[in-house]
Amino acid sequence: MPTSYVRYRPDLEVPFPDEEELTRQVVQAMLHANQQVAAKHRHGLRDAHAKSHGVLAGELRVLPDLPEHLAQGLFARPRTYPVVLRLSTAPGDLRSDQVPVQRGFALKVIGAEGPRAVEDGFTTQDFLLVNHPTLPFGNIAEYAKLQGLLEKQPQQSDQQLQRAGLAARAAAKALTAAHRPLPPAVETLAAANHNILGETFHSMAAVRYGDYVAKISAAPRSANVRSLTGKPVAKRDGESALRDIVTEFFRREGAEYELRAQLCTDVERMPVEDASVLWPEELSPHQSIAVLSFPAQEAYSDERRRWADDVLSFNPWHALEAHRPLGSIMRSRRRAYPRSSEFRHTYNGIAEHEPSSIDELPQ
Ligand code: HEM
Repeated sequence: MPTSYVRYRPDLEVPFPDEEELTRQVVQAMLHANQQVAAKHRHGLRDAHAKSHGVLAGELRVLPDLPEHLAQGLFARPRTYPVVLRLSTAPGDLRSDQVPVQRGFALKVIGAEGPRAVEDGFTTQDFLLVNHPTLPFGNIAEYAKLQGLLEKQPQQSDQQLQRAGLAARAAAKALTAAHRPLPPAVETLAAANHNILGETFHSMAAVRYGDYVAKISAAPRSANVRSLTGKPVAKRDGESALRDIVTEFFRREGAEYELRAQLCTDVERMPVEDASVLWPEELSPHQSIAVLSFPAQEAYSDERRRWADDVLSFNPWHALEAHRPLGSIMRSRRRAYPRSSEFRHTYNGIAEHEPSSIDELPQ
């Protein structure tokens, strides 16, 4: 029987009770943590994913001959778009790369034409991906609890965070062996310290995919990055191990990643409003939609770091209407990202700017 993909309709989204108030609380708590970190460094950083490890220029090549269900939105025609990629780690502070934390893969596609999800006048389509398929705190009420955990982090040392990670990984191992579900806090803290370039990155939450609904992911495609999957970061590599991995790799060679869409086929088992639910691959596989290629380059010059960290903002709401972010987590991000961005740009006295050409990326 042919697969039947769920059609996008606005009522797939159902506002969460008290969503406005919960979002306000989360954004307020984030701002508080952000102020503490800025005071520590005398510089405003992102409230999440503060530490970057590489800023890459590349291309997104939409695959030719995509079937109708995949030839949607940005991927409707076999075009090539310039992209900027910012690689990061999740804390809203500059932690040692020996602390195992989630990695971020923030992609900015330049030259995306079409109606916007919000009228921002931009021509960018951002996809913000993390190396875990689900957000354990999957709706705004649960996320508000995570925020409580994160807010304590500015006062914790790298060693305390390292110990918390070790304890969480031991708990995750024991619970998995006993076939028991992982509590969200354990799942969040149990990240492994693996080479960032070998990871697979996920949108965790859903987006509109033209006429359909999908989660987006990026997986290593070329053999050189596939061979890095699961390779631990060596202890001796120090505080900036991830930056060194990325810069040394791209000084020598380029890499390709595969961009994929997992389309929703069942609204009950693949919910839009709960990002903690893993969409089963037996119901709907990840299907290739584009190739991301990054040639060999100087991946982290001071000019690039300053531009990506201090000028740019990546935001899931920098989006075409065809890729409107969906669900309460995504809706809360509509308020959180501009607030964080505004804080650091004001604190640093640097104007925010959204690029319209890849030529703006410094070498
Ligand atoms: C689906 C779950 C999520 C994913 C995959 C995700 C991913 C990311 C990534 C990759 C970045 C780094 C962007 C960059 O390189 O500039 C980022 C930044 C950020 N995230 Fe999230 N995030 C998620 C949920 C949330 C939620 C629920 C909130 C708060 C309500 C949030 C708040 C932030 C903030 C404030 C920033 C910094 C924005 C800036 O100052 O420019 N994120 N996120």
